Amino acid sequence: MRILAIESSCDETAVAILNGQGDLLSLEVSLVRSQIDIHQAYGGVVPEVAAREHLAYIFPMLKQALADANLDASAIDAIAVTSGPGLAPALRVGVETAKALAWAWHKPLVPVCHLEGHLYATWLETRTPPQFPALALIVSGGHTELVLMSGHGQFVRLGETIDDAAGEAFDKVAKMLGLPYPGGPQVEQLAKLGNPKSFDFPRAMLDKPNLNFSFAGLKTSVLYKLREHEDKLAEPQFRADIAASFQEAVVDVIIKKTARALAEHHPKSIILAGGVAANISLRTRLQTLGDTHSVDVHVPLFAYALDNAAMIAAAGYYRFAAGDIVSPLTLSADPNQDIV
Ligand code: KG4
Ligand code: ZN
Repeated sequence: MRILAIESSCDETAVAILNGQGDLLSLEVSLVRSQIDIHQAYGGVVPEVAAREHLAYIFPMLKQALADANLDASAIDAIAVTSGPGLAPALRVGVETAKALAWAWHKPLVPVCHLEGHLYATWLETRTPPQFPALALIVSGGHTELVLMSGHGQFVRLGETIDDAAGEAFDKVAKMLGLPYPGGPQVEQLAKLGNPKSFDFPRAMLDKPNLNFSFAGLKTSVLYKLREHEDKLAEPQFRADIAASFQEAVVDVIIKKTARALAEHHPKSIILAGGVAANISLRTRLQTLGDTHSVDVHVPLFAYALDNAAMIAAAGYYRFAAGDIVSPLTLSADPNQDIV
């Protein structure tokens, strides 16, 4: 079963072709064109600019993907596309393109939730995919959620952020430190040189008996600390200590809530997904947590941790196998789509 997938929810235009047989997924091509350098000038992603860039590149990339895989439309069994969540103008480019292809080529159309796609990044290039029930930790620029996955396409949300997402907090703290967008990798780099015990930033919601998160207070606390020490803002060690202490606070909260979810739900595996999954400190501590509880931890390969279409193809493959197709005439992008 060969799936052609399109992703355009934010600032990456991506196309992939994946061939699946049973649980054996073989990725034939995965193209990603990042627009980061264009949006950096604005300090964040500008939706209309993102859409314009997607429009300019989506068809050349589709042509390239088919050529790279040495295939034509007749070899494709279904078209999968990210239908949401994401930036409305950006999402629409992928969705309308997928609809046009599905209609013109007479192929089934499979809408895929972007967050579900991130989870399926751990199904790529592995012979030992996550076992169910799996506890999924989704940490991206827009979401921070703990989700229980009992089977393909079956999700129950256990907890989520009540304000900012973890990635958003990284991006905002980066901005306060004058670092370019996207801030996560920049803050992580800076944190490597700092002492995580320098500042005792708040760990919100830890005393609450639920699996929700909050990062707005932490962000504000960093802002006050920077204002308090305005004279030190240019000092490399001070900046590194701020970054390291901030990162430690975020990771502490995520790990403690995940530990609580493990104790309550006894999953067979843990899946880490979303852009923040690229963070080494988070990866390492989650691995240690899994080892302690004898639960397998599945982290996407770096190549599939950030937005890409290979993960959409993997999720789309299982959705297609379950018969989840829609008419190419009626699908519309849903910027607020959620995994449950
Ligand atoms: O999943 P993603 O590519 O896009 C969304 O769907 O949001 O995630 C992007 C987010 C950004 O907030 C970015 O700063 C964060 O992931 N991020 C990181 C790292 N790499 C990306 N955060 C912390 N450490 C990183 N290494
Ligand atoms: Zn994403």
